Amino acid sequence: MKILAFESSCDETAVAVVEDGRRVLSDAIASQVEMHALYGGVVPEIASRKHVEVIAALTEQALREANCSRRDIDAVAVTYAPGLIGAVLVGLSFAKSVAFGLGVPLIPVHHVRGHIAANYLAFPDLEPPFLTLAISGGNTLLVDVRSYTDMEILGSTRDDAAGECFDKAARVLGLPYPGGKPMDALARQSAGGVYTLPHAHVNGAPLDMSFSGLKTAVVNLAHHAQQVGQPLDRAALARDFTQAVSDTLVPRTMEAARRTGRQVIVAAGGVAANSIIRADLERACRKEGRRLCLPPLRLCGDNGAMIGAQGYYEYLAGNTAGMSLNAFATRDISDRQISAKK
Ligand code: KG4
Repeated sequence: MKILAFESSCDETAVAVVEDGRRVLSDAIASQVEMHALYGGVVPEIASRKHVEVIAALTEQALREANCSRRDIDAVAVTYAPGLIGAVLVGLSFAKSVAFGLGVPLIPVHHVRGHIAANYLAFPDLEPPFLTLAISGGNTLLVDVRSYTDMEILGSTRDDAAGECFDKAARVLGLPYPGGKPMDALARQSAGGVYTLPHAHVNGAPLDMSFSGLKTAVVNLAHHAQQVGQPLDRAALARDFTQAVSDTLVPRTMEAARRTGRQVIVAAGGVAANSIIRADLERACRKEGRRLCLPPLRLCGDNGAMIGAQGYYEYLAGNTAGMSLNAFATRDISDRQISAKK
């Protein structure tokens, strides 16, 4: 089954053709990062307009690279939530028109479910159940993936997502947007241990997380140093900050695995590209004898192939939608409303 998949929830327009949920025939991406870097972050209205500009040509490119004609497409999958609402709406509206024009089913895909499914492309033998640490620019979740379409949130951030925290901390260190990758490179230049940063715990919710205090601490440290004319060890601060994020994520992931008894742990999302978090996860999983799936870096960030992968399993579960399907800025990953055919 060949699925044409669309992703436009933030600053990447992506269109892919994926066969049977596991084989990527094409994966075309148009990144807007350079445009938003001028403003130090994503400008939602510009993101929507850029999606409109490229999505039709990108679709032609994805079909051409997959060596497919429109008639070869069996279904259309699309991110319907969560994300910047205008941006999601562009992809959704375009996908609806394609599905309607081709007379094929329309499959709504939750963006974070897509990030998780990126692992099905990287690890052909991976099947649920497993535990996922989903860490991206907008979401930080511990998810028990019971089946391809049955998921339960075990823990989540109470405020900022890990990626948002990386981007804001990177900004005060003078790094370009998006800050996660340059922060990673800077952190690797230091052994750290210079700055004491907060590690938040949520009372009564040991698997939940909070990153806003950490973000504020880094901002205050950098501003204070600037105001009193003290030198700032930027590499050490990057390292200590990253370690604080990792020390929040990794022990909770292992605790969630112990509680659920899951032997397999899967990382997903843009922040899963972080070299220090990856190394800490590897160490922790090796110690406890659990299998760890770390997606290759190109599958950590937003892409269309992951939507095609999850779309296949949503289709098998009967989760298709009618033309009245709407986009949502926020939506729970365990959203059952979408399961009912409309
Ligand atoms: O998954 P993604 O591409 O988009 C969303 O769905 O949000 O994640 C983007 C986030 C950004 O905050 C970016 O700074 C972060 O992932 N990121 C990283 C790294 N590479 C990207 N954060 C930490 N270390 C990295 N190497």
